[in-house]
Amino acid sequence: MNVNSLRLINFRNYNNIYLELSDKVNIFIGKNAQGKTNLLEAIYVSATGKSFRTNKDRELINFNKKEAYIGSKIEIGQREKLIEIKLDKIGPKRIKINKLELKKQRELDSGLNVVVFSPDDLSLVKGSPRERRLFLDMSISQIKPIYRYNLNRYNKILLQRNNLLKISKNKNDIGNLLDIFDIQLVKAGTDIIISRFNFIDKLSKIASNIHNKLTLNREKLLLSYSSNVEFEKLDKKEIENSFMSNLNKNRDKDILTGSTSIGPHRDDMKIYINNMDSRTFASQGQQRTIVLTIKLSKVELIYKDIGSYPVLLLDDVFSELDSDRRKYLISFFNNTQTFITLTDMENLGELRDLNPLIFTIENGNIKYKE
Ligand SMILES: Nc1ncnc2c1ncn2[C@@H]1O[C@H](COP(=O)(O)OP(=O)(O)O)[C@@H](O)[C@H]1O
Ligand SMILES: [Mg+2]
Repeated sequence: MNVNSLRLINFRNYNNIYLELSDKVNIFIGKNAQGKTNLLEAIYVSATGKSFRTNKDRELINFNKKEAYIGSKIEIGQREKLIEIKLDKIGPKRIKINKLELKKQRELDSGLNVVVFSPDDLSLVKGSPRERRLFLDMSISQIKPIYRYNLNRYNKILLQRNNLLKISKNKNDIGNLLDIFDIQLVKAGTDIIISRFNFIDKLSKIASNIHNKLTLNREKLLLSYSSNVEFEKLDKKEIENSFMSNLNKNRDKDILTGSTSIGPHRDDMKIYINNMDSRTFASQGQQRTIVLTIKLSKVELIYKDIGSYPVLLLDDVFSELDSDRRKYLISFFNNTQTFITLTDMENLGELRDLNPLIFTIENGNIKYKE
């Protein structure tokens, strides 16, 4: 899978550009605030229909313009598709695949998988459980599209339940309605719990291997699912029962606080290094390596599940790594199309040997470098 070409009109700080891309390594070199991340973002938007930096499509349109256009030719299993996205500051976004307009505009399933590596990924280890839930939700949706549907459904029921809890302080008034919501919440929530558990289980096995390699067997990495719904084995009935009895036990408290205390919206993924919680015990350097491990494991997992490697977007991370880790990362570039940003020619280093296509970016102007 790869992106063959990209046309941007009024996207962020790009006026009108057209790029033909290499199906191997592409490098964008530019100083700060010239448009490197914007370009990776545009590639991500062409594949997924949305940004990895913002939920507000409007922000993607040039400050001084009303509309933006992102057109890309992407290739999946030898077949090329033309993806066209039109963003409008006041109207809804419009997406066309091979000139055919999609009915549901919000979700684009182009078939192209993308994994972003960015300095912000550190929040995966250091951040709140919410950051890890976002990672889980994004990753699982990439592999299993029905997951997104289950999650939306769960969130809708949760919102309705919380609204009900907030408007009434008296449990006799709302008991019957809560019973109905709880049945739905348990059903949708259990699917989410099972999917997350399975994903983390698979990811942990791959990650433990990769982390061994990256740390020369010095650190043992383990990922584990932490849910406030307790269960012994991964059995749907058992999880549903436990979820329901926990909700019942906490109902009075939930009515008092006006929120739902039990369910996968409070889950977390624990990351252990040598049996210690990495969020509090790992050094900054260790945390960086953990993030790299987890991201590469996700790449490997997508390959295992889907049969081809995702496109890699490496934003400002390559030159931060030491040479062993760089070499390891480079070994992934043989399998797939890769986009890398650098601030300086001098950081090219061993990337030069890969015969990359090099572009320079200056203030939204982009040039091929001979
Ligand atoms: N909607 C927009 N319209 C015009 N310029 C924008 C828009 N959004 C961001 N920019 C500009 O893009 C630049 C940052 O681009 P970015 O790709 O993040 O830089 P970097 O090269 O450091 O990765 C800034 O100068 C910012 O003002
Ligand atoms: Mg940047």
